Amino acid sequence: MSGGGVAAAGGQEGRMRSVLVCYASRYGSTREIAGWIADELRGAGFIADCLPAGKELHPAAYDAAVIGSALYMGKWLAEARELVSRERIPLGRMPVAVFSVGYSLKELTRPSLQAGEAALSDISLFIAPRDAAFFPGKVDPERVSPADRAILSLAGIPGGDFCDADLVRAWARTLPALLGLIQGGE
Ligand SMILES: Cc1cc2nc3c(=O)[nH]c(=O)nc-3n(C[C@H](O)[C@H](O)[C@H](O)COP(=O)(O)O)c2cc1C
Repeated sequence: MSGGGVAAAGGQEGRMRSVLVCYASRYGSTREIAGWIADELRGAGFIADCLPAGKELHPAAYDAAVIGSALYMGKWLAEARELVSRERIPLGRMPVAVFSVGYSLKELTRPSLQAGEAALSDISLFIAPRDAAFFPGKVDPERVSPADRAILSLAGIPGGDFCDADLVRAWARTLPALLGLIQGGE
């Protein structure tokens, strides 16, 4: 549970505070990670909608947003980049945290973190997130498209599941304070 706890999740006017957790995922691991984040927020007493990034999303209806994408060829997926660009005005007015999911992030070395930071350059044109997390993902060469399998093979990337629910949930528990959703937060 968040340090803020369920009792702290209402705003000053007693309304339950709401968070949009949205994600871009090709093969499901980023969707699963977003689900863990939303789950922690709900456990802390917030309304948390967990939805795929798409044209029908309206972040302005929420008190805060958490936006995540898998990394492909060093970039966030197009639908997440487009969401940030399209909704930059409401997102610019609300607290936002972002997360990236990638195979390279299984080891948080300087080059892998630099690659993760570079992927954020597209979105930092439009928004200034309060925090950016980097989570290791999952690669299953048997389950990807032939084109993606060819890229994995060319890049010499073997399969593996490096998703770490504890790491993700620990970050999610910092979000209420980070996003200013509880007293004592920013
Ligand atoms: C074709 C392809 C390209 C990828 N490119 C990157 C990359 O540039 N950096 C990275 O860290 N991971 C990369 N990955 C790994 C994915 O980001 C990782 O598997 C992630 O968990 C996939 O998320 P998803 O299941 O939500 O689509 C790539 C995977 C594939 C199949």
